[in-house]
Amino acid sequence: MSDHNDDPSAQESAPIVGARLVPHITIQAFCENAKTAQMVEQAVGDRRMNKVALTTHNGGINAAIEIYRVNPTPNLVILESSLQADELLTALENLAGVCDASTKVIVVGHANDVELYRKLIRFGVSEYLVMPIASVALVDTISEQFASDAAEPIGRTIAFMSTKGGAGSSTIAHNTGWAISQAVRRDVLILDMDLPFGTAGLNYNQEPPHGLADAVFSADAIDDVVIDRLMSKCANHVNLLTAPGTLDRDYDFEERSFEQIIEICQKNIPIVVLDLPHTWNAWVRHTLSTVDEIVVVAEPDLANLRNAKTMLDKLKDLRQGESEPLLVLNKVGVPKRPEIATNEFGASIDAECFAQISFEPALFGSAANNGQMIAEISSSHKINDVFNKLAMKTTGRDEQASTDRGGVLPGLLKKLKLA
Ligand SMILES: Nc1ncnc2c1ncn2[C@@H]1O[C@H](COP(=O)(O)OP(=O)(O)O)[C@@H](O)[C@H]1O
Ligand SMILES: [Mg+2]
Repeated sequence: MSDHNDDPSAQESAPIVGARLVPHITIQAFCENAKTAQMVEQAVGDRRMNKVALTTHNGGINAAIEIYRVNPTPNLVILESSLQADELLTALENLAGVCDASTKVIVVGHANDVELYRKLIRFGVSEYLVMPIASVALVDTISEQFASDAAEPIGRTIAFMSTKGGAGSSTIAHNTGWAISQAVRRDVLILDMDLPFGTAGLNYNQEPPHGLADAVFSADAIDDVVIDRLMSKCANHVNLLTAPGTLDRDYDFEERSFEQIIEICQKNIPIVVLDLPHTWNAWVRHTLSTVDEIVVVAEPDLANLRNAKTMLDKLKDLRQGESEPLLVLNKVGVPKRPEIATNEFGASIDAECFAQISFEPALFGSAANNGQMIAEISSSHKINDVFNKLAMKTTGRDEQASTDRGGVLPGLLKKLKLA
């Protein structure tokens, strides 16, 4: 084996040892000075930032507050501020009122002030950097927050499953994933876990050569680089790990076969949508017991009612202390079909229906045949409200709407209240 150590060009292009890529996060920077904006923009050139979507804005914290009053917040906000300590904390408090719980904040300041640093960290700010700094130091900080072993996984996992095959959970999963990408503007990864029959590729008009099967049957170790290679981008912010949809092999899995893949996805992408098949075995049960949110999709008939009851009971058992599954009734109002009324359906199994979607064969049929989302076929159709409502609820943004976002930056605000 040859030793490349004495070749300077090889050393230059060698990856920084232990440098992981920062995951698929969105970052927005608010800079008061052109020099700071330049430093932030240079950070994009760092190879660790390859997957990051970064935008810079002129103006400091007040510009950020104005923007986030009407726009979703990214995973990370970088704020340059030359405000005095008290003013800065008041401004951050105002920012907290318009910011999402999961958004992290890095403050770039001009005073080398330990007291201020302590106050900011206590307030919930992730880091305080003092200018002048090189962009590599900023990337180090971002990397520490999002890519280190100590970093919490950025991803929220949302599983969709039907109470009977064909009830519509895949369709609702794909459309909700789309709605999340549009309304919350974070990267979404949809895992089609119905390996023999899954339709995510068809519904998004994608025929990638690789997908989830390559990951789960891989003999080699899986990491975020492999996942990035296997997934296909099908829209701005929407990625897929498709199912092969063939019967070339059997699909038998162990209880934990998907565990590591889901964990890696969760570290790599902010929103992971799991499109589960309607089946019950060890890996499905285990997956459902570990995800953040579950959406159960049922049609309003007796078999679905029985299955909804058994599923919701079982999930309650499996997920004590976790969020309760959301029940969605789909295909409501099929002509001439005797149906169980929505309130009766919920009342008889002691559950609340989170939403209902009417039977719209022309709309859903065209979407399925064209490989498009409902919003692409008809952006003004009221069914989109249901997908948006699901998008907000499953990403933890429902309180945001009802309280006009006030008090929702728990990361920052809760700490303040505790302080
Ligand atoms: N509200 C609806 N109205 C009409 N057709 C629907 C509706 N929801 C879903 N469908 C159609 O029902 C079929 C089954 O949906 P799918 O999402 O694959 O179900 P599941 O994943 O629960 O088995 C698809 O052809 C889909 O287009
Ligand atoms: Mg399905």
